[in-house]
Amino acid sequence: MSIIRTAQIEDALAIAHVHVDTWRTTYGGIIPDEHLANLSYERCQASWIEHLSQPEVERVFVVEQPGGPITAFASGGPIKEALGEWDGELYVLYVLKAFQGMGYGKQLVTRVAQDLASRDFRSMVIWVMKDNPARRFYEKLGGRLIGEAGITIGGKDLLKVAYVWSEIAVFR
Ligand SMILES: CC(C)(COP(=O)(O)OP(=O)(O)OC[C@H]1O[C@@H](n2cnc3c(N)ncnc32)[C@H](O)[C@@H]1OP(=O)(O)O)[C@@H](O)C(=O)NCCC(=O)NCCS
Repeated sequence: MSIIRTAQIEDALAIAHVHVDTWRTTYGGIIPDEHLANLSYERCQASWIEHLSQPEVERVFVVEQPGGPITAFASGGPIKEALGEWDGELYVLYVLKAFQGMGYGKQLVTRVAQDLASRDFRSMVIWVMKDNPARRFYEKLGGRLIGEAGITIGGKDLLKVAYVWSEIAVFR
């Protein structure tokens, strides 16, 4: 049976593999192909080592299959860019394509929300690319659309949208 656990620094490379691979299967046709092709496991690992070095700010959780492989991860912490009265943020959530639709995404959102609640955050925001069908997943979990902003990735101007759960206590 799979488990969800807090990530350690040693997980950085495995997280990077899930991150890069899921970007490639998710953002084709949204983010320029060249940018996706140029993603690097090593650079992504280095970035995750930094993120994992600040657990007082960002908490990272992974889904681990029997025998060890990490197949999904998520992280959360204080909201990065002020938005209304909202205080917490789900920073990232990625499930490898072969493991999508099995409940891991929902379990990870719940875990991040519970962690935020344990740190006295009241609400949780997630930013998602406007063209990403994963928006419907957040709507299904009760997220409310509250904003839209521009973002440039790989030289292309894109739109992202924000959803909020104003009371994360709903994830108890
Ligand atoms: C979006 C994502 C995180 C959802 O995780 P998941 O493990 O596939 O989803 P779950 O199995 O937990 O689904 C939970 C519920 O949401 C629904 N759902 C999942 N993805 C959905 C989608 N794209 N559209 C509509 N509903 C969706 C499921 O049917 C399920 O409903 P149920 O509770 O009635 O059975 C995952 O598919 C993923 O990583 N996608 C690619 C990367 C990505 O877009 N990440 C988000 C970046 S902001």
